[in-house]
Amino acid sequence: MQNVKEYYDEFPYFSAAFADCSPLRLQSVAEFLGLDAPKANIARVLELGCAYGGNILPFAVHNSQADVVGIDISSTQVKVGNEIAKGMGLENFKLIEKDILSIDKDKLKKLGKFDYIIAHGLYSWVCDEVKEAILRLIHELLSQNGIAYISYNVYPGWKSFDILRDYMIFVSSTQKDQTSRLEKAKKELKFLSDYLRINLQAQNDPTLRDSTQLLLTQANFLQNIIKKGHDYYVLHDFLETSNDPMYFYKFAASLKKSGLCYLIDAGLDDIFRNSLGIYRFDAHISQNYPSRIEGEQMRDFMLNRSFRKSLVMKSEILGDRSDFDMDIGVNEFSKLNFILHSRDDKSGNAVYEALKNAYPQSLNLSELSNMLEQDLQSTYSQLIEIFATQNVSIAPKKFHHVKYKKGKTRIKPCVARYLEYFINEPSPVILLANELNLKVELTPSEAKAALKFDGQNSLEEIKTSLALKNADEFLNKLSNKLSEAYFLENFN
Ligand SMILES: C[S@@+](CC[C@H](N)C(=O)[O-])C[C@H]1O[C@@H](n2cnc3c(N)ncnc32)[C@H](O)[C@@H]1O
Repeated sequence: MQNVKEYYDEFPYFSAAFADCSPLRLQSVAEFLGLDAPKANIARVLELGCAYGGNILPFAVHNSQADVVGIDISSTQVKVGNEIAKGMGLENFKLIEKDILSIDKDKLKKLGKFDYIIAHGLYSWVCDEVKEAILRLIHELLSQNGIAYISYNVYPGWKSFDILRDYMIFVSSTQKDQTSRLEKAKKELKFLSDYLRINLQAQNDPTLRDSTQLLLTQANFLQNIIKKGHDYYVLHDFLETSNDPMYFYKFAASLKKSGLCYLIDAGLDDIFRNSLGIYRFDAHISQNYPSRIEGEQMRDFMLNRSFRKSLVMKSEILGDRSDFDMDIGVNEFSKLNFILHSRDDKSGNAVYEALKNAYPQSLNLSELSNMLEQDLQSTYSQLIEIFATQNVSIAPKKFHHVKYKKGKTRIKPCVARYLEYFINEPSPVILLANELNLKVELTPSEAKAALKFDGQNSLEEIKTSLALKNADEFLNKLSNKLSEAYFLENFN
């Protein structure tokens, strides 16, 4: 395992936060399914292959009673991640340097059980031996009703990316180190794209034209990622020794062998995007591939899926229910709070409008139903419509729209300490995110000014202290960003 460790020590992975991994979302999904979900705010949460811990840190910042642990093989990432958390005074967050393969019985005992285990961006990027160890660990470490999240690259979508990966590995293979391999691969990708573009125009053979177009589409996708400066993604998905996508049905079989079973996609695709939308095709799948695993695999083929985020549980807890019918009704929706992130005017549905107007505040089913003076069932039906097409967060607790007012509201003290890292670090290695693991974009000067929202200063006083030309516009924008990130609280 030494080379994996050396690799990640030399090329640490920028540590983003991912909304679908947020323990609040994991609890919400479990509640949706009528499972006895552990309460996230007091849960024990573990991330395997956590890099700097940026995916679990926003949750730890906001939930002081939760116990948050990360394990990673890279000493550099673990050391820096722990220093970041220490700088914020976080006492419920700890990263442990450990190879997943070498966690023995004693260590397992010491770690204890976890209610939520996250393995994001890990499973496809390790050898088969580590893959098995990940599933074994999850089975050993999950608490009674615990839920694990595993993301991985899948076929058939990755078949065409594999061509680009093979190409980039081939053209960069003579380079001595990773930095020059990356540069060479990027240069040669552009070379390939340039040729494909010219060849597409000149190509008369329709079959060759289609295959050229397909490869060019994938190459353009990758070029766009490169343009955004995400070198770490190119390195880890396209140049790393191990990137081993698999078919979903094979993943489900591996789960079964490890005493685990597939629950649902973290994006709730199995419920809200579980049809191809054309009766003939959907009926064919449900008649010929009746189990959930087969049906899902068929849809992966039809939709050329390349990535999955699967929630899993211990098989013994779910037992016969693992092929359960996703019958999500008013009862299930009644347990949750909803936040609509879409801003378009298309919907024309009253629930959509109510959620849009309430944003960033969350609303639950009965609040929506009272507000719109309509029964729960119709409110529920309109919510379902929104879920199929819009970006909606679900949460087990209410999120309020708090506006800044001197003497009444302030920036949450835990957030102030979190922001200080981004103020003092010119090149942050983690992403700033809110409790729902949603990205928050604050410039260093905005983050600095946010600390003045301490409940002692009025907006007018903050404005004077900033001495900016466009102070009104700056403060307005910042106030909105802080409210939308749920970074403010009432304190009186
Ligand atoms: C592709 S990165 C993903 C990081 C992070 N989870 C994310 O998605 O942003 C994979 C991470 O897994 C860690 N890793 C790889 N093999 C490991 C092993 N055998 N034991 C522990 N960590 C490992 C690496 O050090 C690296 O930080």
